Amino acid sequence: MTEQINQDGVLHVTDSRTGRSYDLPIRDGAIRALDLRQIKVSGEDFGLLSYDPAFLNTASCKSSITFIDGERGILRYRGYPIEELARRASFLDVAYLLLHGELPGKEESQAWASEIAHHTYVHENVKKFIDGFHHDAHPMGILVSTVAALSTFYPEAKNVSDAARQREQVIRLIAKMPTLAAFAYRHAMGLPYAYPDAELSYAGNFLNMMWKMTEPRYQPDPVLEHALDVLLTLHADHEQNCSTSAMRVVGSSQVDPYSAAAAAAAALYGPLHGGANEQVLRMLSQIGSVENVPAYIERVKRGELRMMGFGHRVYKNFDPRATIIKEVADEVFQVTGRNPMLDVALELERVALADDYFISHKLYPNVDFYSGIIYQAMGFPVTMFPVLFAIGRMPGWLAQWQEGSADPEQKISRPRQIYVGQGLRHLDGPSS
Ligand code: SDX
Repeated sequence: MTEQINQDGVLHVTDSRTGRSYDLPIRDGAIRALDLRQIKVSGEDFGLLSYDPAFLNTASCKSSITFIDGERGILRYRGYPIEELARRASFLDVAYLLLHGELPGKEESQAWASEIAHHTYVHENVKKFIDGFHHDAHPMGILVSTVAALSTFYPEAKNVSDAARQREQVIRLIAKMPTLAAFAYRHAMGLPYAYPDAELSYAGNFLNMMWKMTEPRYQPDPVLEHALDVLLTLHADHEQNCSTSAMRVVGSSQVDPYSAAAAAAAALYGPLHGGANEQVLRMLSQIGSVENVPAYIERVKRGELRMMGFGHRVYKNFDPRATIIKEVADEVFQVTGRNPMLDVALELERVALADDYFISHKLYPNVDFYSGIIYQAMGFPVTMFPVLFAIGRMPGWLAQWQEGSADPEQKISRPRQIYVGQGLRHLDGPSS
């Protein structure tokens, strides 16, 4: 942002209803919505509200975790460019960075990874809970439920003001997400659950719990293990997106972090958010071949349907994560073979980016456009794609929840409304 935008100042406003003028302080490029309340037409007037459906222009908090510049396609975690972190830091080290503000040193990194690796088990009763789901239950529905269920195994998590207690829950949630995800998949496939292997990396252990069959010990392919680790890093946080806002709002009631994380996962499940990666593959499969791309584009332009994996509330030129994901795809396809859906995706992108509808609406591929193609090539079913997103986003949800819980300016979230309903009226007939 240019210096001018960041400069503090004063907004002079005059209310035409009363002719009175007001000076509203400008700090960090914003005015405080509460400063509008002094603007009244009479003594008993509640005062002026700001009306902002979907929070298109509302800053809900101050945060030092993630910075995004949508015009310039910039994404930084604690000041580090995503391009550097994706290439040079492990997902667990990035999780540590998001939560603690600094990257871990060598010893801290080893201790952190070991602590996570030794909390991957879930209570055996969780398996019975998962077994209760129908065979074709969507794994994201299972994940949302089992994350919430964890709150019943750790009642001490309700002590949200106890930092030591909350650190335990943070470790557990990061550690157990791959286990819950893999168990959901194994349940759907009718396969026995494969237990965690503490000797493997975070990504390697997840692949182990997903794919291990009769071999004595699963050995992940190092290329796929690294590619998955990078993909998790790319999904780790993204400032105040829908699911992170849900984590903060639900967490503001001082509920335990498992329940708040379940709400965040539920928000992520939506096809406009983290569920988009699954919808992209369904869209590409529906298009089927490069020859069908022009007709599909025309349907999108007629407003008949949305191009899943395109567009973003913040990024208006490109999503830096999509750029990196395309590089990861090349690595993965060296091992798995090229996913034919890639040709359809590349043609869809080529045609769309040259078309005025997409240019004028500032629609570019987002993080979800290419990630699913990689996941599919790695053998994941499309229903697991939002689950993979949730595993990556968990450290971000937790870091944002921690920051919100510690922010002295925050309290329970409770927006106001503009009432447009019926005025006072009474039931017909005699009062009882
Ligand atoms: C994620 O917020 C985050 O940071 C999210 C995320 C994260 O890391 O947490 O980045 C992850 O959720 C990425 C987005 C994944 N979703 C999709 O790919 C679904 C398809 N995209 C859209 O539905 C849409 O672009 C959103 C939801 C991503 C953004 O929606 P906005 O900013 O609210 O924009 P909008 O819905 O108001 O659309 C503005 C215009 C509309 O046209 P008009 O009615 O003004 O004529 O653009 C059109 C929309 O119809 N439009 C699209 C479109 N996205 C917007 N038209 C066709 N295809 C699309 N994908």
